[in-house]
Amino acid sequence: MNDFIFHNPDKVYFGKNQINHLPEELLKFGKKVLLVYGGGSIKKSGLYDTVVNLLKTNGIEIFELSGVEPNPRHSTANKGAQICKKENIDVVLAVGGGSTIDCSKGVAAAAVTESGDVWDLVSNDVWVTKALPVVAILTNAATGSEMDGWAVISNMDTNEKIGLGGSALIPRVAFENPEYSYTLPTYQTACGAFDIFNHVLDNYYLAGDATFDMILEFQEAVMRAVVKWAPVAMKEPENYEARANLMWASSMALNSVLDAGTVHGCACHAMEHELSAYYDITHGHGLAIVTPRWLKYILSETTAPAIYRFGVKVFGVEEGLDPMIGAEKAIEAVSNFCFNTLGLKANLSDLGINEEHFKEMAEHACFGSVITGPKELAPSDVEAIYKMCL
Ligand code: NZQ
Ligand code: ZN
Repeated sequence: MNDFIFHNPDKVYFGKNQINHLPEELLKFGKKVLLVYGGGSIKKSGLYDTVVNLLKTNGIEIFELSGVEPNPRHSTANKGAQICKKENIDVVLAVGGGSTIDCSKGVAAAAVTESGDVWDLVSNDVWVTKALPVVAILTNAATGSEMDGWAVISNMDTNEKIGLGGSALIPRVAFENPEYSYTLPTYQTACGAFDIFNHVLDNYYLAGDATFDMILEFQEAVMRAVVKWAPVAMKEPENYEARANLMWASSMALNSVLDAGTVHGCACHAMEHELSAYYDITHGHGLAIVTPRWLKYILSETTAPAIYRFGVKVFGVEEGLDPMIGAEKAIEAVSNFCFNTLGLKANLSDLGINEEHFKEMAEHACFGSVITGPKELAPSDVEAIYKMCL
């Protein structure tokens, strides 16, 4: 177990009747708000009207950045930063899923720099300690962006999708009402659920030191919750218990509680970000395709006991088997969850992806080095895993 510092200053209002606290929280930062949202789902659901009315009746001045793309672009964040600079915005209010919240973080960080260009921060790997405050209203249980210090920004001109991190990017306040996710399409529910699942698995001990038992049990509980509630939310979109479990699992998976003290490489995420950078695919779907293949690739005498334990605890694989056989059953259970229960297409070729860019994607995924984790992955390993996904 590694030493760690835990500090997450995000104040979360969770549940059905919390949105009335929005004005009082925004007014702590000032009266000028940049409202950021995506392609219009919040207008259809009525959440946009609720938020705008609340702000207007409390004398808050609203500026808008709309049209944030899934896999948010640096150019969109830069537009928001310009508005902030011109209008002296006090606080950035994100209303949407991970893309909208990530874009808002990019806006907030770029707005306090001289250039106002978020890509300067991303490409120089700057750790952001200064930014405008961000407040988030979450509509999709998936990324954990509502409670973490990361923003994943895409530059489609260069096929790059890179994480920008920093303590100043953690939202100051997050509103999580599971009802706001009732309107999510089934496909996004499935993709979001698998994103949550993989955030935990990517940080799970699959080799080496497994002494932090409390964290292991906690991680397994969160993955079990996703396995239990995702299919319910897909069948019954307005099932509050299912949406609530997924939403809080989304936040817990990446708010630093579940990876405190662990050694992790986030291998699947590194590989998936290249897929969305080159092909603009949905993040959770890319993860679902990569994860079972990655598990197969790293399966060895060293990793088998931990993969088997994960299978027993999360999917109820029978106990008492040879670890290698047990681990294979665990991997089968992951595939079954992704491709049958969640109904996601199983192969990259199903998404129109071929091996044309695999070599360069594999090199980018390793950032000039290797991906650390239960088995170190060099570019040639990553390329081999991509080929297994075809
Ligand atoms: O744009 P709108 O119209 O809002 O529609 C969105 C979008 O089309 C729609 N949607 C969201 N909430 C909805 C809804 N539709 C109906 N009802 C609702 N309640 O769903 C689509 C996808 O939204 P998006 O925000 O892109 O999804 P998600 O939350 O999965 O975010 C994905 C982005 O986050 C990054 C991913 O790489 C990707 O770019 N990630 C961010 C992380 C972080 N900040 O820590 C970590 C993750 O690993 C991830 O990389
Ligand atoms: Zn993710």
